[in-house]
Amino acid sequence: MMRRLALAVVLSISLAASAHAQTPRGATDAGSAQTLRARRDYVAPRDRIPAHFPPEWPIRPGGAPFVARHAIVVSDAPLASRVGSEIMRRGGNAVDAAVATEFALAVVYPEAGNLGGGGFMVIHMADGRNAALDYREMAPLAATRDMYVGPDGKVSEQSIVGPLASGVPGAVAGLTAALARYGTMPLATVMQPAIRLAEQGFVVDSAMANTFADYADYIGKFAGASVFLPGGQPLRAGDTLRQPALARTLRAIARRGRAAFYQGPIAEAWTSELARAGGIITMEDLRRYRPVWRTPIRSTYRGNTLLTMPPASSGGVTMTETLNILEGFDTLPPFGSTQWAHVVGSAFQRAFVDRNAKLGDPAFVAVPMKELTDKRYAARLRATIGTTRATPTTSLTAIGEGTHTTHASIADARGNAVAVTTTLNELFGSGVYLASAGFFLNDEMDDFTSRPGVPNMYGLVQGEANAIAPGKRMLSAMSPTIVLDPRGKLLLVAGSRGGPRIITSTTQVIMNVLDYRMSLADAMSAPRLHHQALPDTLRVEARGLAPAVNDSLHAMGYQTDINGTVGRVNALMRVRGGYEGVSDPRGSGGAAGF
Ligand code: DON
Repeated sequence: MMRRLALAVVLSISLAASAHAQTPRGATDAGSAQTLRARRDYVAPRDRIPAHFPPEWPIRPGGAPFVARHAIVVSDAPLASRVGSEIMRRGGNAVDAAVATEFALAVVYPEAGNLGGGGFMVIHMADGRNAALDYREMAPLAATRDMYVGPDGKVSEQSIVGPLASGVPGAVAGLTAALARYGTMPLATVMQPAIRLAEQGFVVDSAMANTFADYADYIGKFAGASVFLPGGQPLRAGDTLRQPALARTLRAIARRGRAAFYQGPIAEAWTSELARAGGIITMEDLRRYRPVWRTPIRSTYRGNTLLTMPPASSGGVTMTETLNILEGFDTLPPFGSTQWAHVVGSAFQRAFVDRNAKLGDPAFVAVPMKELTDKRYAARLRATIGTTRATPTTSLTAIGEGTHTTHASIADARGNAVAVTTTLNELFGSGVYLASAGFFLNDEMDDFTSRPGVPNMYGLVQGEANAIAPGKRMLSAMSPTIVLDPRGKLLLVAGSRGGPRIITSTTQVIMNVLDYRMSLADAMSAPRLHHQALPDTLRVEARGLAPAVNDSLHAMGYQTDINGTVGRVNALMRVRGGYEGVSDPRGSGGAAGF
């Protein structure tokens, strides 16, 4: 409970900060107002319609994006974006840059970038090839269905914090597999910037210092204290962070590939260190770990094509189901209106009812993909949305069956694109830092259903399909997505962080661009809502709703929760003569490109 409270506090602190700051926080904001419109010859797209936000909303429409003529990276860490951009400047493609950016995030963004976690990647190559890579963690072989249920029947905190919370990491296997299949550069070349940043260090910016201060107690419980809290004090803005153990591990991976992480002395050392702390991931778990190439979900929305992530992520299915429901409305209600909140919230609510009950690792459960992504099925769901009343989630369940993540969007001069989201789950994962190898382990086991009906860290109430089993992948909400325009040309690359709010925030940025024809900057700045079926609450970002709209929603039977932020998206858009990139104004990320 303490941990859940801590998460809520951190989220409200970050909202308070973003409410005051109209541009991103942080000392190295490559995407901030100072560097915007870097190109003097840049002409903003003329087909966008000016947006209107509620007067209470702290961000004004009309903001400017970062623009690049040839290639662009948008991520949660400006330093990592620069690494990816530099790789493309040296001739690498978007996949080379994505892999370089992700390894750099493991160094300069330790709260979520990682070697000890996993993720999902959607790739669109300009020659027409599309791919989805699932490098999600797997439950260790020693995991059991009820491992987090105590004798009193209560679910413990061990799925969130400490040595039992981790799934078998997939990051190194995934990134090396993506590079081998779609990259053009040697692994050692794309990893070199990350190795340098770990070895020589980099200057901690204000955003990172705030995170270390917020999470000092958490980090201080485990071996990460000596690296991130030297002398017992969290690193401050302006300090240099060096990570020699991580540099050693990265150098070994650069030389020997994935084997350096999953076999041999480094793996022996970190699995023994974990076992001494009480963890259950073994060398056999590592030996068996495989990333999985999957066929991306290919759906359409108002003539555009979406390429998005299938299970073990729920992101693509839930996004597709939501957009299929909404496509049946000729036009969506005016942005910010009562009917907007009602219609969009109701679509998410229905899609999440299915998500929470029916989705899980396809190697273990039969996922009704065809039905859930079918437009006729969506039409039946749409018919249950009334015009004047909220629908209680309990009545919808009958239709059904029988904080921390980081997203990067990358595109190169040829039009190849990558959407990649990775996570340790909550900030700094399980808190367990493996000093022998220099990284944090995830707490992804909490994404499973510890007990049907009992909410997890994100309040998600999930079913049997997502129960724990050895070797199973826990259901994710990560939603890396690429949108092609009606002519099949790259239009948008987007994804987010924020647990289930990943799905709703990413979908809304896409809708803001496609339905409301907002500029990318406005689409990213606009207030967001969220509905995940249970709790049966329409959540809206603080100050994101006009008071009269909130009153009308109450009159319709909605319980609203006006609180915090919904996701942190990093997105890019292809425009005439190049790309626009915007890192979410709710965060401290940035874009880089040329
Ligand atoms: O895979 C998932 O859905 C979660 N582990 C994501 C967690 C997350 O986004 C936390 N970030 N704020």
